[in-house]
Amino acid sequence: MRVRFRFLSSLFLLIFSWATLSAQDQEPTLRELATQNDFHIGAAVYTYHLTNADHSRVLASEFNMLTPENEAKMCEVQPQQDRFDFTRFDQLMDFAETNDMVVRGHTLVWHNCMPAWLQNGDFTRDEAIQILRDHIMTVVGRYQGRIAYWDVVNEAIDDNSQIRETVWQQLIGDDYIDLAFQFAHEADPNALLFYNDYGAEGMNQKSNAIYDMVSDMVSRGIPINGVGLQGHFTVGDSNNWVSPANLGRNITRLGELGLEVQITELDVRHAGVATDAILEQQARDYYNITQTCLENPYCTAVVTWGVGDRFTWLRDSNLGFFENPDVEPLLFDVDYAPKPAYYAVADALREALGLDPVSDVAPAEETTETVSRVVDLPEPTKSDDAQLAPDSVDGVAYYAAFPVSITLDGSTDDWANVPRVTVNQGPQLPENNDTSMKFAVVADTEYLYFLAEVTDSNVVYGNYDVSEWYREDSVEFYLNTTGDLDASTYEDGIVQIGIMAGNLTQPETPLIGGGNSAQAQVNAVVVQTETGYIVEAAVPLQTDAWSIEPAHLNSLGFQAHLNGSSGEDRDTKLIWSIYDTADQSWQDPSLFGELIFWNINQ
Ligand code: G3I
Repeated sequence: MRVRFRFLSSLFLLIFSWATLSAQDQEPTLRELATQNDFHIGAAVYTYHLTNADHSRVLASEFNMLTPENEAKMCEVQPQQDRFDFTRFDQLMDFAETNDMVVRGHTLVWHNCMPAWLQNGDFTRDEAIQILRDHIMTVVGRYQGRIAYWDVVNEAIDDNSQIRETVWQQLIGDDYIDLAFQFAHEADPNALLFYNDYGAEGMNQKSNAIYDMVSDMVSRGIPINGVGLQGHFTVGDSNNWVSPANLGRNITRLGELGLEVQITELDVRHAGVATDAILEQQARDYYNITQTCLENPYCTAVVTWGVGDRFTWLRDSNLGFFENPDVEPLLFDVDYAPKPAYYAVADALREALGLDPVSDVAPAEETTETVSRVVDLPEPTKSDDAQLAPDSVDGVAYYAAFPVSITLDGSTDDWANVPRVTVNQGPQLPENNDTSMKFAVVADTEYLYFLAEVTDSNVVYGNYDVSEWYREDSVEFYLNTTGDLDASTYEDGIVQIGIMAGNLTQPETPLIGGGNSAQAQVNAVVVQTETGYIVEAAVPLQTDAWSIEPAHLNSLGFQAHLNGSSGEDRDTKLIWSIYDTADQSWQDPSLFGELIFWNINQ
């Protein structure tokens, strides 16, 4: 039977509920499908929830892996120094072993759930190392041979991609991470030892930092076997920052270090009440993540952070993350009926076995179509003799005239005869076609100058802080000065420069955001016009991060975006380069086009 969940009407919803229930009765469970795939589908479970019969039934029948949600954490097992309490952990181990489930231990070392005695204690480095060793030897040793995987260290990298300053880090130093893995290996040489973190699933600054850290550990012989990608997502993330291509690339680079990868805490949240459209996109997200993991030989498990929507940390008002009492982030609803996301995961597993799908979520919508770089550019030509540089090649290359000097004053008089490029295409087109941008670029001997002439009937600014600059009217220029147009991460010399329309208010510090943007030392002027606004910006040719030489036909990676908002949030996204079809330039500079210098005196 094929269950469709597009465009559900209420009547159809009733039929759908019946159909999905009977499909679950007839079709193999996730657990059966995963086992046939030699794969693990797991769920986190808190012992208290096992008293709910539906919870236990679904957990045992649908999952072949189990993670203790809290029972293995330090505050639970060693609430007082040297007084260990394994009561609930043992109950979970009994459940797992009775039901023949593989266990992922989570987690030995974390800045959260730290017992007060340790948090407030006054310990020397040697004492702290002894405490770390005793804790790990006792916990891992107790379950030696029974826990296949351990999250040894959790969330040691902070949101600025630096080693997090935790109690362990302060007492011992950064090598507490190495030591934790060494002690865990000593306690159970056969357990596979993982580093686990959030926000590092796709290719981004944090996953780069984690990649660097684990690759260094591997090269020094520290006994690390894998990386856990937590996967606390929001509906739609798999169409955006954690696209299958992006997730796949991160998994592969970790795998190539000799590490195993698992998705360890998957859930997909949403705002408000879950509508059919939300549940449909959530299903697609679950499908995309599971399918990407399954098809990648280095990825061996997908674990959801809970079983059903009745018990999820996202509904726990004890926690600081409590945002939406109606959130339904998991595979089963509050009554343990399977949701569209359940069938989507089933379909990813079925597809890998060559079985027909039970829903129409597969195949994944192609979100990042790959467009190959145009290498052979046409002969440069000028459609108008007065132009200072040749016509650009649409979405591929822009010829930047030099030397041309510009004054940053919001006037376009000094931009006469500089070719403009219209940007009116992108993944989010404006309603009523009322927003677009013309850009131009020139250089003199000291600066590269950008001009954006934005047409926008409603210039919106002031609703967002500069940290969320891209959510309201703003212009983005990107540069890759490294000489490697295929670079796919933000190394030094690659910048995203986001200039907010909010600069119209002439704030003391210019409202400029974007990846590595501080490296660019941007100066910008924004002025309002009758039809929208103008941005003029300059970046020095020589900085600590780069040395740009505007020689005839020299080229740089270059990109331009326009963000438009009509009030609440960004609702327009226009993109120049043809290589970026899914708004990925912010994390993948290989999607930029080219800027080619053109000497006006040659
Ligand atoms: O059960 C007690 C309750 O008896 C008591 O009255 C109440 C008062 O604080 O606390 C309750 O326990 C809380 C427990 O969740 C269940 O509600 C703990 O305080 C609270 O700290 C605990 O939160 C857990 C959180 O980690 C911190 O340990 C969540 O359940 C758990 O889902 C969450 O899991 C983390 C992963 O370990 C790491 N990655 C992120 C993930 C989500 O935050």
